[in-house]
Amino acid sequence: MQLSQAVHAEIEARGESFVPPYPHRRTVPAGFWELYRLFRENMIATFSAADYHDPLIRARYVTVDLFTINDPELVKSCFQAQHEIFQAKTPQMRHALRPLLGDGLFVSDRELWAGRRAAVHPIIHASRTRDFAPIMVETIEEWRGQWAALGEGASLDVLSEMAQLTAEVISRTIFGRRLGRELTGEVVRGFSDYQAHVDQVDWLSLIGLPDWVPRFQGPAAHRALRRVHRVIDDVIERFARGEGDETAVIGQLFKARDGKGRKLSRRAIRNEAIVIFMAGHETTANTLAWAWYLVSQSLRVRAQLHAELDAELGGRSPGFDDLRRLGYTRAIIEETLRLYPPVPILGRQALAEGEIGGHRVRKGALVMVSPFMLHRRPEIWSMPDHFVPERFGPGMPRPGKYAYIPFAIGPRICPGLTFGLSEAILTLATLAQHFELELEPGHAVEAKCRLTLRPGDGLPMRLRLRG
Ligand code: HEM
Repeated sequence: MQLSQAVHAEIEARGESFVPPYPHRRTVPAGFWELYRLFRENMIATFSAADYHDPLIRARYVTVDLFTINDPELVKSCFQAQHEIFQAKTPQMRHALRPLLGDGLFVSDRELWAGRRAAVHPIIHASRTRDFAPIMVETIEEWRGQWAALGEGASLDVLSEMAQLTAEVISRTIFGRRLGRELTGEVVRGFSDYQAHVDQVDWLSLIGLPDWVPRFQGPAAHRALRRVHRVIDDVIERFARGEGDETAVIGQLFKARDGKGRKLSRRAIRNEAIVIFMAGHETTANTLAWAWYLVSQSLRVRAQLHAELDAELGGRSPGFDDLRRLGYTRAIIEETLRLYPPVPILGRQALAEGEIGGHRVRKGALVMVSPFMLHRRPEIWSMPDHFVPERFGPGMPRPGKYAYIPFAIGPRICPGLTFGLSEAILTLATLAQHFELELEPGHAVEAKCRLTLRPGDGLPMRLRLRG
C-alpha cells in the first residue's frame, strides 16, 4: 500500500522519520555455517537485502526443497487456493511443539485439524470478544494500579510486564476469573522452561529424516511439560466436577463439538486449552512491548495518540464500545504488527505435489512465508522500514488481504485475531492515558526471533506519570 502524499508531506513538515531497528541485511551470500548460526540465533537475519525484493526464493538443503514466498499472489495461491496441499506445519514446528500441545489444532492438519478448528473457532471468535472484554479491562486496570503505586521514574522491564499482563488475561479467559488468578504463574513458568529447553530448529528434518524417527528432548523440557499438563488436567477435573465457570473457555470446550458433532475427550480439551494459552498471550505481549517502544521513539505519534485518548476518553477507562472510536490507537497497533509481526515466519510442508509460481513442488517440500519480510517489501510498501501508523489511519485504503498477514491468512488464519487486537488496543489506550514510557538510556533494542519476534530479551523502560 502506498502512503498518501498528504501523509508524506506531514511527516516531512514535522521533520521526523523514525526507522526502528531491523537485523543486518547481507549483500553477499552467506556460507553454510553462517546460515546455520543465523537459523539458530535469529531466523529473520537469514534474509539478504536482495531477498526483500524477490517474489520467490528457492533453495535446497541436502534433500529438502525450500520455497520462500514473498508475494501476495503466491501467498494467496498457497495459503488459500492450495490449502489442501499446503496446510501442514513444518516438521521443525511439529517436533518442537507436539510434546507440549499433543494433537492440538496448532500443530495438527487434515481431518483432525478441521474437527478441532470447528470446535475451537466459535469459542474465541470475534463475536465473543464483547464477552471477554470485561476480563481484559479489569486486568489492565489492575496493572494501572500497580504502575501508579510504583510511581514516577520507576524502572520496568516492559516485555516482562506485557507478558505477565497478557498471561493473566488469557488465563482468566481460559480457566475463569478465580482459577485463572491462582494458576497463571504456574502455567507461565512451565511454558518458559519448556521454551528455554526445546530446540526450535529440528536439523534432522532438514536433512530429510522421516517424522517417525524419535527426536530427543532433554529431561528439563520433560519436567516442564509434566508441570503444565498436571496443572491443566487438574483444572479439567475441577470443571468436570462442576466447580468451574461455565463461561470460561474450558467450560465451553466441554460443550464444544467437532466437525462431526462429537464431544472432545479430556485429552483434547487439555491440548486445545494449552494451544489457546500458548498462541494467545506471547503474541499479544510482544505486540504491546514493540508498540510501547515505537511510541516512545516518535514525538509525532505520541502526541497524536495522547490527543485521541484525551478527546475520546477524557481520563475514563475504555471498554469494548470504545474500540471503534480509537482509530489512531488501532493504527499504531496495526503498524506495529506490520513492522514486527509476532509470528515472523509461517512454515508449511507440502502434503502432496503442488505448484508455486509455475514451479513444481514435490510432496514433503517446505514452504515459508515471512510476514516480516513481506511487510517490508519495497515494491508493496512505501517507506517500508519507517514507523508510520498513519498508513492504517481512518480513511486510508486498507492494505491487500494477502500483503498484510500478521495473523496469517486462509483457513488457518488466527481465530484469536479480534481478541488479540482488542486486548492490545485496550491496554495501550488505558495505560497510555496515565503513563509514558521512556527507553532506558543506552539500551539497544534488537529484533530477535525465537519462536516469536521480540525486542531482545527484555525492554528496560522508565515510567513517567502523565499530567
Ligand atoms: C496480536 C496477537 C496475535 C497474533 C499476531 C497472532 C498470530 C497468529 C498466527 C500468525 C497464527 C498462524 C500460525 C501459522 O499458521 O503458522 C495464529 C494461529 C492461532 N492463533 Fe493467534 N495470534 C494472536 C493472538 C491470538 C489470541 C489472543 C488467541 C486466542 C485467544 C490466538 C489463538 C490462535 C490459535 C488457536 C491459532 C491456531 C489456528 C489454526 O492452526 O487453525 N491467537 N495466530
